[in-house]
Amino acid sequence: MARTAAPAFACTACGASFRKWTGRCEACGAWNSLLEEGAATAPGTRPRGRALALADLASDECPPPRTACGIIEFDRVLGGGLVPGSAVLIGGDPGIGKSTLLLQAAARFATAGLACLYVSGEEATAQVRMRAARLGLSAAPLRLAAATALGDILATLEAERPGLVVVDSIQTLWADTVDSAPGSVAQLRAAAHELVTFAKRRGTAVILVGHVTKDGQIAGPRVVEHMVDTVLYFEGERGHSFRILRAVKNRFGPADEIGVFEMTGAGLAEVTNPSALFLSERDRLAAGSVVFAGIEGTRPLLVEIQALVAPGPPGSPRRSVVGWDSGRLGMVLAVLEARCGIPFAGLDVYLNVAGGLRVSEPAADLAVAAALLSAREEVSLAPDTVVFGEISLTGALRPVAQTEIRLKEARKLGFTRAILPARATPADGPEEGAGLRLDRMPDLVTVVGDIFGAG
Ligand code: TYD
Ligand code: MG
Repeated sequence: MARTAAPAFACTACGASFRKWTGRCEACGAWNSLLEEGAATAPGTRPRGRALALADLASDECPPPRTACGIIEFDRVLGGGLVPGSAVLIGGDPGIGKSTLLLQAAARFATAGLACLYVSGEEATAQVRMRAARLGLSAAPLRLAAATALGDILATLEAERPGLVVVDSIQTLWADTVDSAPGSVAQLRAAAHELVTFAKRRGTAVILVGHVTKDGQIAGPRVVEHMVDTVLYFEGERGHSFRILRAVKNRFGPADEIGVFEMTGAGLAEVTNPSALFLSERDRLAAGSVVFAGIEGTRPLLVEIQALVAPGPPGSPRRSVVGWDSGRLGMVLAVLEARCGIPFAGLDVYLNVAGGLRVSEPAADLAVAAALLSAREEVSLAPDTVVFGEISLTGALRPVAQTEIRLKEARKLGFTRAILPARATPADGPEEGAGLRLDRMPDLVTVVGDIFGAG
């Protein structure tokens, strides 16, 4: 007879499982993150099954059409609307606006003709109704339920067979078949599994809300991220009203696509021209401020990069970064020092991407270097200048993708000059430069000398 295996433990941070409990996860190093998962299946037993009916790759069946809710920023991040039977996870910090966004989206989907159900495990229906009234959505044919019992939710879905169900949040769900507390990995996994399975079987799209821990992970369910088709993050800074919806995984569209919103008194408003918004608070003549022509997903986005360089205590100066990778900042500083002879030793460096945006493109290297130089030399760059390009460790500037799209956005917003790598897309065509002066730089030393008169 097969022996019953010892209970397993799973890390709530990374999802790794272990036989024994330890204070620190051996896989990701998180402290006190292991929770009991319940007994594993007996080893040696094989699941029984039947032979599968196989299908051909070619088929006449056309895929079911997507439904767009009409909130363009939301539809685009989904890859052009909601795919029937898809499972979407939306993660974000508590209070960032996930419930608001999903209530607005669900109401719009319902108005667009999709039968929609909004299940809240965090608020009573009266509260959801009040919020909907405040958002001016009371007339939408959206149906509500306040529930946390997974069994009840599944029974309701089976009876109603809606086109879309929003579950807010996955952490509140509770299945009586699983012997652990709501929010535990076992509960999350069971709930996500049941809901995703239902989505696939009945063609109901499922949107799950997941709260994120302080260090930016969807609390516990890394596992859930693997189970769903699409993972979106809703990001923003507390003090700012901008909110970014970002696709980090999408089986039905491009990852890295973003949607930009502004939190207003009447809910989330779409931002159709995010570059203008991100640049609206810019002090155009300040030293240390540089406009980076970036790409987020398929869209160009101009953002302000701010640097402050100030004398620091001897020994270990501060390197503080908001919205960019600190390792990458270290690299840019090292290249400036080693290749251009611009030392930052003894200087504190602060770097900030304005508006609470997170930039991850290497194309921002040159804009960061320019902001650092501008701050250090107290030379402000002409205010109508955009900058982009990747810096290599040799100090050379590497061309980056989609040069023409970046330049076009800069032109559209009235910029007149671009500083970019010398070898950027030779095949730019006749449009090249039109209305923009292009300062093509072979390496960082040239930027330091020609633009900042330093080095
Ligand atoms: P909420 O959607 O409840 O956040 P989450 O579900 O991610 O926890 O948003 C809560 C915040 O949004 C709250 O601080 C109030 C603010 N808010 C507005 O500014 N305007 C609005 O119209 C609404 C509904 C909320
Ligand atoms: Mg909420």
